Amino acid sequence: MALPAIVKGLLVGLIVAVPVVFIAGLAYVYFASERYLRDVAADSSYVYPGREDAETIERGRHLARTRGCFGCHGQQLQGAVFSDEWAWVGTAVAPNLAKYAREHDPATLEAAIRQGIGHDGKALWSMPSYNFVLMNDNDVSALIAFLRSAPVEDKELPQPDLGWETRMLIVSGQAQHMPEWGSRMPPLLLGEGDDPQLVRGEYLAKTSCNECHGFDLRGQPYPVNPTPDLAILAGYSDEDFRHLMQTGEAIGGRTDLGLMTMVAKDRFAAFTEQELEDLLAYLRTLPQQPIDHQASWRELN
Ligand code: HEC
Ligand code: HEC
Repeated sequence: MALPAIVKGLLVGLIVAVPVVFIAGLAYVYFASERYLRDVAADSSYVYPGREDAETIERGRHLARTRGCFGCHGQQLQGAVFSDEWAWVGTAVAPNLAKYAREHDPATLEAAIRQGIGHDGKALWSMPSYNFVLMNDNDVSALIAFLRSAPVEDKELPQPDLGWETRMLIVSGQAQHMPEWGSRMPPLLLGEGDDPQLVRGEYLAKTSCNECHGFDLRGQPYPVNPTPDLAILAGYSDEDFRHLMQTGEAIGGRTDLGLMTMVAKDRFAAFTEQELEDLLAYLRTLPQQPIDHQASWRELN
């Protein structure tokens, strides 16, 4: 039975229109998300002092170890791929940092580390720059000096790919880029005139633990790993705390805290005795402080 001409016309129209609409939709999602990622400007006030003596480089190495650069960028800084664990990002590729530090100037490194802006001027997505927003100039410079001195280990890495799911989240306003997160990081509360040990402790906590425990360290329900309020440490003795930091084992003989155990072994086992004491002294003041329910990711939940 022959179809009436009008039905035939409609069918042909549909066969042509559906892919056209689909492709136009994808193009919209791609270009709108690109526009969002490019709509950032780095603050260029940082000046690299150029100190690259042995002591500075050693300080930089300690920072790279305790702040997790090795954990994510590879133990030889050779780069690493994050496609499996972070499936919601297409393929996140942490670049080879020793190589990167040879190819880019210190200001580019600083913008990536503290501001969440990449060498191409685009907002970063998976690099946790919000954790380093409060890192002071001396430390960021030591870190850069270390990276510039680190031997280059070559490794084949794939092209990074943000993935359509992430781009859809951007276009629908459900996800923010790294400079946006960094801008939400509140300033340090302690400074001149306060107990120097607590000042050091707050700095350590808010350039280390805030990556996962909320910007104010009071816990967060998002994204993959929910974390407790660090006021929980009121129940820890000095020895329990040292044990947790060095082995990732919690009180009560709990040996597997997932990501926490991983980062304790990789990063926090390298904290000095002094750093552990400063950190704990500060974290023990948390129960006296009010919780800001708008801080970090809590407002999204
Ligand atoms: C949780 C994992 C993680 C940690 C910790 C981490 N990075 Fe990254 N970093 C990444 C990923 C992933 C990228 C790739 C860019 C992206 O997806 O945002 C990246 C990108 C970078 C870039 C390149 C930015 C560009 O594209 O131009 C630099 C530089 C960098 N990181 C430095 C560091 C330094 C220094 C440290 C330690 C202080 C560090 N990162 C800690 C995951 C991490
Ligand atoms: C990469 C993410 C990450 C970082 C960085 C991190 N933590 Fe955790 N932490 C976790 C997770 C996830 C848990 C919850 C583990 C669980 O209950 O299974 C946790 C749990 C804890 C606990 C609770 C232990 C208990 O008794 O249940 C303490 C205390 C703690 N972290 C301290 C710290 C301190 C101090 C720092 C900074 C020096 C830090 N964490 C940095 C992810 C992290």
